[in-house]
Amino acid sequence: MSLKKGQELELEISELAFGGKGLARKDGFVVFVDQTIPLDIVIARIIKKKKNYADAIIVTIVKESPFRIKPPCIYSGCCGGCKWQFLKYDEQLVFKRQHVIDSLEHIGIIKDVPVHSTLPSKVTYAYRNKMEFSCSDRRWLMPDEFGMENLDLDFAIGLHVPGTFHKVLDIKKCLLQPGLGNNILDDIREFIKNSNIPVYGLRSHKGFWRFLMLRHSAAYDQWMVNIVTAEESNKIVKPLSDLLTAKYPEIVSVINNINKRKAGIAVGEYEILLAGSPFIRDKVGRFEFKISANSFFQTNTLGAEILYKKVMEYAGLSGKEQVVDLYCGAGTISIFLADSARELVGIEISESAVRDAEINCQNNGVTNCRFILGDIKDCLEQVKKPDVMIIDPPRTGMHEKVVKQVLDMSPARIVYVSCNPATMARDLGMIKDDYSVLEVQPVDMFPHTYHIESVARLERK
Ligand SMILES: C[S@@+](CC[C@H](N)C(=O)[O-])C[C@H]1O[C@@H](n2cnc3c(N)ncnc32)[C@H](O)[C@@H]1O
Repeated sequence: MSLKKGQELELEISELAFGGKGLARKDGFVVFVDQTIPLDIVIARIIKKKKNYADAIIVTIVKESPFRIKPPCIYSGCCGGCKWQFLKYDEQLVFKRQHVIDSLEHIGIIKDVPVHSTLPSKVTYAYRNKMEFSCSDRRWLMPDEFGMENLDLDFAIGLHVPGTFHKVLDIKKCLLQPGLGNNILDDIREFIKNSNIPVYGLRSHKGFWRFLMLRHSAAYDQWMVNIVTAEESNKIVKPLSDLLTAKYPEIVSVINNINKRKAGIAVGEYEILLAGSPFIRDKVGRFEFKISANSFFQTNTLGAEILYKKVMEYAGLSGKEQVVDLYCGAGTISIFLADSARELVGIEISESAVRDAEINCQNNGVTNCRFILGDIKDCLEQVKKPDVMIIDPPRTGMHEKVVKQVLDMSPARIVYVSCNPATMARDLGMIKDDYSVLEVQPVDMFPHTYHIESVARLERK
């Protein structure tokens, strides 16, 4: 195809590709156009040309897709926090389901499996109970900020431009978190700006302030503030903690994680409790969970209840089964299933999550769960063969060795939970000779993003 970088051409978008980009074909050649959706007709400029495809950006929209709406967020289109606010919510659900089907068919070579309609999120804004904002010594400007005077160009606290690690927008208001989170974010921004202590440079790896993580308890309307810094300095962070707890009675926990490593993650090598409790409490269904700063907890609390009910249904428990819960986090699924099984064993690599899981069992009066701390590939052999296995891996999916161990253990039923259709399809593809994939239920935990959670029901052949 004779397309060239810089060339402009009119395209009609026909599909949505993974990553949320619109896809058009020009004489059969695939062009991905960011920030477009099916039935948009656009003039697009080619920014990258490869052998089999090209990447393009919108120059102008000639005709808007009927699926478009006006996004409520001023950062929409520039921010990587969520990319689909301009797409009608009902259509998001349709495209997400299609993405699950396509992944199963193309990656797992699994066809003719019923993939049900996506279960929607009960709330579509302010649904996230955890937000992670990055600090940067370089602010990435919104298009309408170019040329403005009096802007601090060497400071930002916010979210990244999609697909970048160093481009951070200074976000004043994120609609994915409950409103008070934005007030807390603003106070922290002002404190950091006035502290005369440098923010961390994402390229230079020098500076002090690194991340801000806010956790919200939907059940109790309480907040945890986790300030991630490159070094330990009580003298610098304690006044911030004092300011926040004095101003916001809703803040019940202030933590300082210290991350001296270059890796841009909000989990520190150790943490210091600055105020209140080291946990935040939240509820999923009738169960209450204590969650530490660094423990995994589903980010959409109301969505988690829908997800876990589906896991429960697919597990088909009668009260007699031995269940293994792989990648169990803070024990949430195990506790949800505890009444319906004889015994549950969870395996999890995060020490704080296992500690939380044990406390969560005690607090919920659950006595038939136990947890093993460690990497699943090294621990799975310690547990006896289960009747039912729950597998809820991180985005990267299962380690190949774990796939083999699961097949050797050969449980009668598997419920596979995943936030990444591609790795789910890959993993199910590896076990499909031994297990039938009976049905898959997409559950939307992440409105306005292209991400989708799925639950698959598998039965030994
Ligand atoms: C998607 S979360 C699922 C947590 C839990 N099932 C829930 O619903 O809250 C994945 C979990 O796997 C854990 N994990 C990641 N790699 C692991 C490994 N190799 N061995 C054990 N646990 C692991 C993470 O710490 C995280 O808690």
